[in-house]
Amino acid sequence: DWTPDQFIETTVADLKEQIGTDKVILGLSGGVDSSVAAMLIHQAIGKNLYCIFVDNGLLRRDEFEGVLHSYKDMGLNVKGVDAKDMFYTALAGLSDPEEKRKAIGKVFIDVFDQESHLVEDAKWLGQGTIYPDVIESVSVKGPSATIKSHHNVGGLPDFMKLKVVEPLKTLFKDEVRLVGKTLGIDPAILGRHPFPGPGLAIRILGDVTPEKVAILQEVDHIFIKSLRNSGLYDQVWQAGAMLLPVQSVGVMGDERTYERVVALRAVTSIDGMTADWSHLPYEFLADVSNEIINKVRGVNRVVYDISSKPPATIEWE
Ligand code: XMP
Repeated sequence: DWTPDQFIETTVADLKEQIGTDKVILGLSGGVDSSVAAMLIHQAIGKNLYCIFVDNGLLRRDEFEGVLHSYKDMGLNVKGVDAKDMFYTALAGLSDPEEKRKAIGKVFIDVFDQESHLVEDAKWLGQGTIYPDVIESVSVKGPSATIKSHHNVGGLPDFMKLKVVEPLKTLFKDEVRLVGKTLGIDPAILGRHPFPGPGLAIRILGDVTPEKVAILQEVDHIFIKSLRNSGLYDQVWQAGAMLLPVQSVGVMGDERTYERVVALRAVTSIDGMTADWSHLPYEFLADVSNEIINKVRGVNRVVYDISSKPPATIEWE
């Protein structure tokens, strides 16, 4: 029977033999899969694993610093790369969701390629691919898929010519979590909701600006913090907020104002392929709405998305 301890023992031994004294590069996303893959490879080869964690400026509030800190606490050899401005520049003026995804994918490749050249003589690329990614490659939307759909632009980047090492390739998500837990990975990383690679860029409908990102980060922070404080976070499969490209009328004193609308989305799901909207308590929603409208300048209306997938997707773009 499969146990995480036995999986870790054989995998670490295999990795040691496979990699020897070679150097491995791995891109961390802050998500479960890349974190667990990194810890396994780290157990096998230690400092010869070079992790790269890119700040694309599209993460949740405080997430980059927090996660980078956890990675360092875990003993990983990790470099945090601030590439926010490159992503914002590439996104400027783009409104089409697929154009935004492409732009983000391209900048990610450029940054990752540049960083990987700084690791002299690397032989391997570590990846957190899990079994469902292998069998349903159509549904893979992570960095590797982004990379695959863009490698024809200007030739294959050098890091893609490296040999690939994917220690989680035979595991399902719940097994990955068990392995991560056994490896002592921060529960905050293991229990984290899924978050899309293009991040907040696809939750800002229309064009992305640093100002819009800042507004959405505050809204999202209030929503997620409240879910945690109310003990609802673990009952929800994924949650977040969307910044809508409409102005809605409001009233302040005897003036009419036109300000932004945000939509909150929370769903229950097994694998993201189908999803039901979460029946969050009215009182909870009322408190979150009040806090957002009182604290986030520029937002005067909060709506809650009560659509299920299909036909509505989880993200709005
Ligand atoms: P949808 O919106 O298609 O989302 O119901 C299903 C799951 O996929 C995530 N998602 C993405 N993840 N890059 C990603 O890495 C993307 O472009 C992307 N689009 C959607 C979404 O957050 C949900 O978990």
